[in-house]
Amino acid sequence: MNLTKNFSEDGNFILSIEIDKKIVTTANGLITFENADLHHIETIEEYRNNGYAKLILNELITELEIRKIKNLFLEVNVNNINAIKLYKNALFEQISIRKKYYNDTFDALIMRKKINEVILAVESSCDETSVSIMENGKIISNVVSSQIDIHKLYGGVVPEIASRNHIFNCLDCFKEALTVAQKETSDIDYVAVTNGPGLIGSLLVGITAANAFAYANKIPLIPINHLIGHIYATFLEHKIDFPLVALLVSGGHTELIYMESHYKFKLIGKTLDDAVGEAYDKVAKVLNLPYPGGPEIDKLSLTGSDIYHFPRVMLEKDSFNFSFSGLKSSVINLIRKFETNSTPFKKEDIARSFQESVVEVLVKKTVKCAELFNTKNIIVSGGVACNKRLREAMRSLDEYNVFIPSPKFCTDNAAMIASACFYMRDKLSRTIKDNIITPFTNGEETYI
Ligand code: KG4
Ligand code: ZN
Repeated sequence: MNLTKNFSEDGNFILSIEIDKKIVTTANGLITFENADLHHIETIEEYRNNGYAKLILNELITELEIRKIKNLFLEVNVNNINAIKLYKNALFEQISIRKKYYNDTFDALIMRKKINEVILAVESSCDETSVSIMENGKIISNVVSSQIDIHKLYGGVVPEIASRNHIFNCLDCFKEALTVAQKETSDIDYVAVTNGPGLIGSLLVGITAANAFAYANKIPLIPINHLIGHIYATFLEHKIDFPLVALLVSGGHTELIYMESHYKFKLIGKTLDDAVGEAYDKVAKVLNLPYPGGPEIDKLSLTGSDIYHFPRVMLEKDSFNFSFSGLKSSVINLIRKFETNSTPFKKEDIARSFQESVVEVLVKKTVKCAELFNTKNIIVSGGVACNKRLREAMRSLDEYNVFIPSPKFCTDNAAMIASACFYMRDKLSRTIKDNIITPFTNGEETYI
C-alpha cells in the first residue's frame, strides 16, 4: 500500500492510496487561509469497508494540524449513513443543513471538525491554583501555583486562606499559561474547569474566573469532575487500552474504578472512613512531620524497617472497599504508648511499617479487582501515586500493564483537567447548557 499526499501552493490538496498499482481511495479539497474544505473522499467499490477512507482522513487531519489549519468543513448527503458515521467518529459535528441540496431531493449536512483544538483548563479545588493549555492533546503549558508553604504553618489546608490565595494568584496563572503557550485568548476553543468535589470557596474562585473568561470570549465552558481529572492525568503520557482498573488515591479519596471505555466508569470499591492521603497526613502529624505528611513519610520510610507489622485491613474477603482509620489508630496508639513510657523508637520504622501495610492492601485489592474484570491494564493516580514504594510495588506486577502519571501530574494540576476535557469533546452537546456553571459539592460518586 502506498499513500501519497500532494498539497499545492494554490491551496488544492489531493491524497491517494494505491494498492497493486491501482488508486483505490482518494480525498481532495481546498485550503483557504485558516480553513480547509474536503470536497470529495471515495474508495472504489471492491475496496470498501477496509478502513481506507478512515486512514486517508486521519492522514489529512494530521497534515492539516501541521499546517496550523483551524477547521475542516465538508458537506454530506443525509442518506449517506456510512460517511456520516465515519465523520462523526472523527469528531466532525453538524453545523447546519442545506435543504434539497442534492438534485432538489436530498438535504446536505454541513459538518465541521476543529483541527487545531486548544483547551484552557483551570483547577482550584484545594490549595493549588493551576491553569494549563493543551493543543491537540498535548500539554503546552501547565502553571501550578502551590500554597503548601502557607498552609504548612497551620499543619493543614485552611479553607478561607486557600480561597483568598486563589484570588491573589488566579489571573496571573491565566496570563502565565497563555504566555508560555504563546497563545492569545482568541486561540482558545474550550475552557475546562474543575467544578467539584473540593473546598467550596476554592472551587468558586476557579469557576468564577473560568465563567468570566469563557463568557467574555464566547468560548464553550466544560465542567470537569476533579476525580475524573486525576484518572485522566494518566492519559497525558500513556496510550492505554480498555478495559482497565483505576486505583485513585488522593488526600480526599481512595477508590477502585472499572473503566470499560472512555468516560464509562463503574465504582467498585471505596474507603469506608479515611482516604489514604488523609491517613498519611494524620500519622505524619503525630510524628511531628510537616504538612503534607505523605511525602515526608515516603522519604523517612526509605531508611526504616517494617518491624511493627501493622494489620493489613482487607475487610471481608470479597470486599473491594478500604478502611484506613483502624491502621491509623494502631499507629497513633503505638506512638503515644512509646511517648508515655519514654520508650525510644525510630520514626523511620513507624513510617516504613505504616507504609508497608498501606501499600500491601492497595496492591492486593487492585490486583484482585483486575482479576475480577479479567483485564491486565491498571492505572494508579492521585497525589498518593507519587509514593515511591507504591509506584515500585505496582510496577513490579510483571503480569500487568501498570500506568502511573509522572509525580507532577499526580498531585493537583490543570493539565489533568484539560486531559479529561479532551476525551469528552464528543459528548459536549450534552454538557454545555447555558455556559455558566456552579460548583457541586454533593457527592464524590456523581461521576459514576
Ligand atoms: O491529589 P492530591 O494532590 O489532592 C487531593 O485531591 O486530595 O493529593 C494530596 C495527598 C496528600 O494527602 C499528600 O500527603 C499525598 O497526596 N501525597 C503522598 C505523597 N505525595 C503526596 N502520599 C504518600 N506519598 C507521597 N509521596
Ligand atoms: Zn486531587
